[in-house]
Amino acid sequence: MTDSPTTTAPDAAQDPSAGLAALAAPGAAGEDPLLSAARLADAGDELAGLRERFELPDGVVYLDGNSLGPLPRVVLPAVTELVRRQWGQDLITSWNVHDWWGLPGRVGDQLAGLIGAAEGQVMCGDSTSVQLFQAMTAACRLRPGRSTLLTDGVNFPSDQYLADSVGQLLGLRVVRLHPSELTAYLSEHGDQVAAVSFSLVDYRTGELFDAAGLTRATQAAGAVMVWDLCHAIGALPVALDEIGADLAVGCTYKYLNGGPGSPAFIYIAHRHQRHVQLPLTGWNGHREPFGLNGSYVPAESIEQARIGTPALLSMAALQAALAAFDGVGIDRVRAKSLALTQQVIEFADQRLARFGVEVVTPRRPELRGSQVSLRMPEAYQVCQALIERGVIGDFRAPDLLRLGFTPMYLSFTEVHQGMLTLAEILADGSYRQPRFAQRAAVT
Ligand SMILES: Cc1ncc(COP(=O)(O)O)c(C=O)c1O
Repeated sequence: MTDSPTTTAPDAAQDPSAGLAALAAPGAAGEDPLLSAARLADAGDELAGLRERFELPDGVVYLDGNSLGPLPRVVLPAVTELVRRQWGQDLITSWNVHDWWGLPGRVGDQLAGLIGAAEGQVMCGDSTSVQLFQAMTAACRLRPGRSTLLTDGVNFPSDQYLADSVGQLLGLRVVRLHPSELTAYLSEHGDQVAAVSFSLVDYRTGELFDAAGLTRATQAAGAVMVWDLCHAIGALPVALDEIGADLAVGCTYKYLNGGPGSPAFIYIAHRHQRHVQLPLTGWNGHREPFGLNGSYVPAESIEQARIGTPALLSMAALQAALAAFDGVGIDRVRAKSLALTQQVIEFADQRLARFGVEVVTPRRPELRGSQVSLRMPEAYQVCQALIERGVIGDFRAPDLLRLGFTPMYLSFTEVHQGMLTLAEILADGSYRQPRFAQRAAVT
């Protein structure tokens, strides 16, 4: 593998008509070779049948499952049953009769299976931001006397804001550095570091970091590692127990298709469960929640990671959605994901470089998650124009078009069609229409 583009294209940025001609006849006579390759890949795709598990509107190429996964078909009947029968008929008895009380732990155990964790270490609930606060605070408290919390300066904003907040509350210095700088930093200042908090996949570039190596380096310095798995869970194999992870958090509305605002999760390794001190001491995490005592005693198990009353409907939707993974196997998901992202990188190198588009996602497969981010001028406008043409990706400021690839419902041919639409928009300049520049509340 090389880190430079495999193919160079002539610069046609000044001459859109040359770009259009190139799109129509990209070299050889007959079928577009990239389309032929896509058709071939579809013919051998073992996961093709899984698309049936999802509701997806006709004519849409959905490249935003890394932001909000689509609706798995099983969700609506499951939630309808819960609302009609359990809530509607069985009322409050459902906490016992249908074991609503145990749902956060049961879903936690299901999530554990997707991140290489044994049961009893994952609790589902609340948002990733809340769980980041829980995990970072608990991690730092495991190392009293140490002065520093490390985070990544290009980490997702919540990760950075909450690191600052934890730093203020605990009187710690917060240092921002890129994961590639960790080892050097630890060799100088490792004895001062209480905890390190990184995302496994960079939400902007799609770079995948070395979970095992960074965890090892952190622990060798005597510090505690906190992983944010938002852009990893459901997209690639994660082996938390195998790498000896400490704490981790993640969301479930991206590659797990749990629905808008579906609850997040926290992982606390068994060996830490008797020592951690989580800051949010809600009554659900008490050793005897129904003893209704005035002072807090945490449950000894992962139950201590519960906070308040769980968002039952969202959690039930998530539980149903996880059935979309039944019998699939994350290794097969990863293999197809890499093939899809490779397809897009090749397309971009061959057909989009001429429009000033740069692939910022690493080309080496072991260094990339399940997205491809393309840097380009006027990325916001291009993204809006694409959406109007039925190809849905998203924009990340200041200049990235971010495309996510979920192998369970995407075909190689439709991804090719989506990329062709992108090339057409860039070539004909239609994205320059003023309406595409108007910013919505959510970009
Ligand atoms: C890497 C990462 N961390 C944290 C968050 C925040 O998640 P939430 O809005 O569920 O708190 C996100 C949201 O997209 C994210 O991508």
